[in-house]
Amino acid sequence: MSSDTPGSDEARERRLDALCVEGWALFDEFDRRVRDREFHPFVAADYELVRAALVRFRSPGARFLEWGSATGVITIMADLLGFEAFGIELDASLVRQAERLAAGFASRARFVTGSFLPAGYKWRSPVANEFSATTGEGASGYLELGMALDDFDVVFGYPWSGEAPMMLDLMRQFGRSDALLLMHDTTAGVQAYRRGKKITASS
Ligand SMILES: C[S@@+](CC[C@H](N)C(=O)[O-])C[C@H]1O[C@@H](n2cnc3c(N)ncnc32)[C@H](O)[C@@H]1O
Repeated sequence: MSSDTPGSDEARERRLDALCVEGWALFDEFDRRVRDREFHPFVAADYELVRAALVRFRSPGARFLEWGSATGVITIMADLLGFEAFGIELDASLVRQAERLAAGFASRARFVTGSFLPAGYKWRSPVANEFSATTGEGASGYLELGMALDDFDVVFGYPWSGEAPMMLDLMRQFGRSDALLLMHDTTAGVQAYRRGKKITASS
């Protein structure tokens, strides 16, 4: 297959490159328009690091869910890599942005407005005074998706400081026991967990 052939590996790599470039432009614009004026919990993960993690754990046809999908870049990336990809995001204007971005990349990634927390879930940290400060509240998004957390093979989240234990707890309580959780960390990069245990490069 030549590099110009739609569906070739080279064509897909070029689409992913273009998606990352557009994703950063959207985040820069969001930074100026929104974050320079008020607090907003959307901070973009390092798209290149997340892309490498998705390639590593790629499994075409597997179901992928992004918790807090913002402008949709990572969910669309997962779709372009062959996952059946979904995003749940609390901010409806970001969901509309994600849908526009998906349309621009002919992506079938699907987004819903809502909370990635299952209905009734309350995070109780075992550490005194540690609480989930930036995860917002809203109607759970799973009903609109028509799927539950344990329908997903791979889940991605970018927790704010102190929220990683909550994401691990969510997977323990509601995820499929063999599902993979990918968490972005500003210093450690993308960390992968299965059954609550970190997966090392050799595992
Ligand atoms: C740190 S940003 C990560 C954005 C994107 N996942 C990435 O890695 O580039 C967290 C996102 O989660 C969203 N969010 C916060 N609480 C949420 C909730 N309970 N349910 C769904 N989305 C939520 C925020 O609006 C924000 O877009």
